[in-house]
Amino acid sequence: MLKMSDILDEKDKRLREKSLEVTFPISEDDKKTVKDIIEFLTNSQIEELAERYDLRPGMGLAAIQLGIKKRYFVVVHEYEEGKFENYVIFNPKLVSNSEEIIYVGDGEGCLSVNREVCGIVPRYARVTVEGYDEEGRKIRIRAREELAIAFQHELDHLEGILFTDKIDPKDPYKNKDLYREI
Ligand code: NI
Repeated sequence: MLKMSDILDEKDKRLREKSLEVTFPISEDDKKTVKDIIEFLTNSQIEELAERYDLRPGMGLAAIQLGIKKRYFVVVHEYEEGKFENYVIFNPKLVSNSEEIIYVGDGEGCLSVNREVCGIVPRYARVTVEGYDEEGRKIRIRAREELAIAFQHELDHLEGILFTDKIDPKDPYKNKDLYREI
C-alpha cells in the first residue's frame, strides 16, 4: 500500500521535470502503480480510512509524484457521497476548453504540497481531455467543475508545474471578480 511518505514533496526537483510519453503495452509496474494510486486516493477520501492510514485527502495523483517520469495520472472523483469514479489517463492532452474560468474558493491542494496555500488558481470550467486507457485504447473525457480542475492540475504535473506557481505571491486574489468561485 502507498504511504504519504512515498509521495514527493514540492521541494523535490523531480517534480519540475517534464514527464515522458508512455508506450504501449504499459509495464506490469505501471499497472501495479495505477492500482496502488486508486486505492490510495479512494482511502484518502474516506474519513475513517484516511485517519487509520494517516493520509491527507486527495483526488488526483500524477506518476511523477511517485518519482515515475511518465505521462499518466489517476483521478478518483467522489461524484456523490461515498461513490467514486476512477479516471486513469495515459498521454493525456487537453483538446478543448470553455471560455469560462473558475477557481476553488478554499484554495487548491496537492498531495505534494504539505501546507495551506491561499490564492486563486484560474482553471477552465469545462475541458475535454484525450488520451489512452491502460490497454492503449483511445479515450476522450469531458469534465466540468471540480473534475475539470483536477484534470488541469494533473496535466500541469506532467509539465513540471505546481498549482502554487500559478498564484501571484504579491496579489494572491488578483482578478478574483473575473472568475467564478466553486
Ligand atoms: Ni498535485
